[in-house]
This record gives sequence, C-alpha cells and structure tokens, in this order.
Amino acid sequence: MREDIKEILVTEEMLGERIRAMGTEISRDYQGKDICLIGILKGAFIFLGDLAREISIPTAFDFMAVSSYGAATRSSGVVRILKDLEESIQGKHVLIVEDIVDTGLTLSYLYDNLKNRNPASLKVCTLLDKPSRRKVPVQLDYRGFEIPDAFVVGYGLDY
Ligand code: IMP
Repeated sequence: MREDIKEILVTEEMLGERIRAMGTEISRDYQGKDICLIGILKGAFIFLGDLAREISIPTAFDFMAVSSYGAATRSSGVVRILKDLEESIQGKHVLIVEDIVDTGLTLSYLYDNLKNRNPASLKVCTLLDKPSRRKVPVQLDYRGFEIPDAFVVGYGLDY
C-alpha cells in the first residue's frame, strides 16, 4: 500500500489539532443537550472514536453501514443500507459523522432518510470534504479539512 501513496495531505498533528477543535465546537453548540453521534461505517470509525474523546457533553452512539464505492446504484444516488440504527432517533439531537463527502450522494440519501425519522435536530460532521466532486448540494455543519480531488487513504478510510 505504501508505494501507492503519492503525498501526505493531512498529517497526524493536523488531524489531532483539528479534531480537538471540532470536539470543542460541538460540545459548545450542544451545551445542555444530549447528543447522539451516528457513525457511518466503516470509514468513519476511527474518526468517530477520536472525535468522541474530544466531546465533553453526554454522548450516545449508533452506527449505520451503507454501500458506497463500487455499487451499481452509485450514480443514481440510491444507497443500500447494509446495517441500520439500533435505536430510534425520534426527538433526539443527532449528528451524522462521516469520513469524507465526495459526490454528496451518500450523505444526501442518509440525511433525508434520518430526517424522516423525526429527530429533534439533525446535523452533519465530516472529517474530509472534496467539494470539487459534488453532484448534489449537502450542508456540512462541521468540516475537518477541504481536500482536492484525490483518492485518500489511511486513518480507517476505505481502501
Ligand atoms: P459520496 O457518496 O460520493 O459522497 O461518497 C461518500 C463515501 O465514499 C465516503 O463516505 C467514503 O466512504 C467513500 N469515499 C469517497 N472518496 C473517498 C476517498 O478518497 N477515500 C476513501 N473513501 C472515499
């Protein structure tokens, strides 16, 4: 794998610093509320773990797994749910935690799907954002880094 890597876009130090800042921001924004973090598997699991450790308010966790790369349905924006949430999110403050937003198709589907379950609030946090690849508009409430159109690996991302 190492010989396939051309350059380092985000260093370990940059990750640590940015995730700490995001955790602080999220803790401040949700002060006095309970928050439910929904990690999108598998790519976001390490980010979710590191982010959660930087959040200082009561936090619940749940996970979803969806098919993304390689699926025939990708260009249509229809995403297959491989694993659904275990708990209801009705009336809860929900934060979707994604590893990377590329075309936006996966997130757009997930957002609408979760919105229909009537959470008290629904926001999005992504570690990486490739805005130049966007096919559908999505709102990113917390964003770690904007990166160019390159396939990135490491830190638990799909490879
Ligand atoms: P989208 O639906 O095109 O926005 O793709 C979103 C999903 O594709 C992400 O959650 C990742 O799992 C995956 N993905 C997109 N770009 C990359 C990349 O550069 N490296 C690893 N996974 C990626």
